[in-house]
Amino acid sequence: MKDAAPQTIYLADYMAPGWLVESVHLTFRLAPQATRVLSRIAFRPNPDSPRQPFFLHGEDLRLIAASIDGTPVTPQLTATGLTCDVPDAPFVWEAEVEIAPADNTVLEGLYMSNGMYCTQCEAEGFRKITYYPDRPDVMGVYTVRIESDLPVLLSNGNPVASGDGWAEWHDPWPKPSYLFALVAGDLVAHHDTFTTMDDRTVDLNIWVRAPDLDKCGFGMGALKRAMIWDEQTYGRAYDLDVFNIVAVDDFNMGAMENKGLNIFNSSAVLANQATSTDADFQRVEAIIAHEYFHNWTGNRITCRDWFQLCLKEGLTVFRDQSFTGDLHGHAVKRIEDALVMRNRQFQEDAGPLSHPVRPDSFVEINNFYTVTVYEKGAELVGMLKRLVGDDGYRAALDLYFDRHDGQAATIEDWLACFTDATGRDLTQFKRWYEQAGTPRLTVRDDFKDGTYSLHIAQETPPTPGQPEKLPLHIPVALGLLDDTGAEVLPTTMLELTGASQTFTFDNLAARPIPSILRGFSAPVIVASTPPAGERAFLLAHDTDPFNRWDAGRSLARDMLLDLIRQDGGAPDAGYLDGLRATLTDSGLDPAFRALVAQLPSETDLAIALAAAGETPDPLQIHRVRQDVRRHTAEALSDILPRLYADMQIQSPFAPDALQGGQRALGNAILMLLSERDGGAAAQAQFDGADNMTQQLAALGALLHIGKGEDAAARFHDQWQDDRLVLNKWFGIQITMAAPEEAVDTAARLTRHSDFLWKNPNRFRSVMGALSAHPAGFHRADGAGYALLADWLIRLDPLNPQTTARMVAGFDGLRRYDADRQALIRRELRRIADTQGLSPDTTEMVTRLLQ
Ligand code: PHE
Ligand code: ZN
Repeated sequence: MKDAAPQTIYLADYMAPGWLVESVHLTFRLAPQATRVLSRIAFRPNPDSPRQPFFLHGEDLRLIAASIDGTPVTPQLTATGLTCDVPDAPFVWEAEVEIAPADNTVLEGLYMSNGMYCTQCEAEGFRKITYYPDRPDVMGVYTVRIESDLPVLLSNGNPVASGDGWAEWHDPWPKPSYLFALVAGDLVAHHDTFTTMDDRTVDLNIWVRAPDLDKCGFGMGALKRAMIWDEQTYGRAYDLDVFNIVAVDDFNMGAMENKGLNIFNSSAVLANQATSTDADFQRVEAIIAHEYFHNWTGNRITCRDWFQLCLKEGLTVFRDQSFTGDLHGHAVKRIEDALVMRNRQFQEDAGPLSHPVRPDSFVEINNFYTVTVYEKGAELVGMLKRLVGDDGYRAALDLYFDRHDGQAATIEDWLACFTDATGRDLTQFKRWYEQAGTPRLTVRDDFKDGTYSLHIAQETPPTPGQPEKLPLHIPVALGLLDDTGAEVLPTTMLELTGASQTFTFDNLAARPIPSILRGFSAPVIVASTPPAGERAFLLAHDTDPFNRWDAGRSLARDMLLDLIRQDGGAPDAGYLDGLRATLTDSGLDPAFRALVAQLPSETDLAIALAAAGETPDPLQIHRVRQDVRRHTAEALSDILPRLYADMQIQSPFAPDALQGGQRALGNAILMLLSERDGGAAAQAQFDGADNMTQQLAALGALLHIGKGEDAAARFHDQWQDDRLVLNKWFGIQITMAAPEEAVDTAARLTRHSDFLWKNPNRFRSVMGALSAHPAGFHRADGAGYALLADWLIRLDPLNPQTTARMVAGFDGLRRYDADRQALIRRELRRIADTQGLSPDTTEMVTRLLQ
């Protein structure tokens, strides 16, 4: 009953629902091929909306029976649901439908994974479970009865009663249908409790299959840390008797914040020392916190419509970033977040997929769970906080929770809370939500008679559908330093609102050195770079750790760009001296030093070249970066072995920031050592590792120098029964492959008997790794493009969501030479021409080709 021609939906067309839901009673009689879903829904007319025809969404449902107030009715089925004549007064709708969870490969609605039933309803999956007004501004109180022989039966809210083969749940908090969840399976729980600040005891469970029970402890600790943090930082306590998390192997995204029953991709919750890297631990902690924080920002206050997605996602990402920063240190976290913005969001914003943080139209909402909505959305919250200050932010958030609890809100509501709580006029700031693209700042300064003037201009390049851009309200954090590195002006928030503006600072003894956009205070590109000498000074002296790192980064990028333009050579002495000084400065956090040691990515360099009007050659970029690594290893060969030894940890393993930083720096040095020692150090680390961070890094280093074959085979033997580790095994052989081998390696791995490609994590571990290896993927003969296209065409009929997300791997399209562009277009057209291509993938391919 679907496959109606996909339609574009516009924010401007929003209409309040004609009918509201009071309560929902659902009964599930679970069976793989024929699950029966009985619904009893109390509707009432929306007093605030003109009367509309009664319409319920429904997809892939077999309607068995329907009634209104107990009288059987025969609704008219449409392509996307049903309509029915109803009274002009409150009434009770009842329906029985049949669905087949075992055949559901889309992983949306009710589906099966490893013999277990689970659901995914965001954004529009509930309509695949029963007929319903499946839109977030319709909120109801749910009672759910599950009938199944499986031992563990879970739904939202609190358990009410259970018996042999059944269980009942009740969720007292009204919620939109996208937060509905159900799980049934043969599961065991890692259990704990938490006492809230208002002294209620909450049962906490992480539900997994029995063999995974030894991977739950870290996630449980993370959950409790998140619960305390939200109480202490936002004054928000949990609001049910139980909080359940379930790990599922087949999942399109990271995790889902269903009320009281979060469902997680197993890669985003399971972790232990032997199988998880430090990055995995950090990701698990952040995602658990993120989903937990949604309980207030997303669930108690939800979105009026899907155009407002950033209302919950931008804010919740901002909250999880603050949490991670508070726990592990803000300096390093800020650099990591800025890298995501620069490497991924700026790229999205510079290409055909660019869209505003709050889009104004879409075909398939699933295609808008993007780094722009999430990460740029979080940056907008951070800017608001910088503009109104910490106290103003807290007052605005208190007002937001107070005013909108239990509602489905909009960005207008959100901004009004800031204005009402602080008196700030945010009319211009709102453009950040509506205008796509990355602003570019150009900066000029002068000094005369003790007065320092800073002239800043802003410009946002055109993006698809938005040729003209207006100036934005940009917080630019500035510090001024004297020539000893002392602050003559501590961090000050300048507010740039005009297309260009001058800021002056009087009574200065000498020309100061500016440190601009401290802490990455806005998601913009500072296009004018200060002289190299000034940047070297900032790398050595800036009191703002972000700008200190950024100065080094910018020097490294310019050095690499110069070498690319002259097709190779040795890095200059200035760069090597700065690196040496930073690496050996034991006063600096090892994690910070590891970030300084990291070269700008190949994508970063390609974007920089393209922005300068040049055509990047992915192979040449790879080669030059590799040259630099080799020269660096040689130039620093006197300090590397000692530094490597210093980073080896004697105390017991802990997945904390301190040890993680040491391992990160140790592994960065291992890569350099491997350039010269034939892999001896890496082989020793591989053989002796007692944790995945070191084992995997050693394998990577060996693969990188072409000596990883034995280690890879041993790694497979050791981990063949662990699907999460096996994903790493697939991925690293591709990311670490030489450019000319990456495509063949990927193709070979797709023929491996463990390549269970219907599992999204496994599919991504190969195809995602390939498109993340620019020099490999952009092989001149187009073999990389063809391989990815073949597999996307194969996956699309089963799982359009994951397919559509991965089509974005072709996003770099415009950057490269005409031959490559033509090859990419050919593959995109081949995908577009595929019979029966999903609307999801069609929308993405169309946008990429436009
Ligand atoms: N809402 C989820 C989150 O960000 C993401 C998600 C979207 C998961 C759609 C599944 C489907 O926390
Ligand atoms: Zn989220």
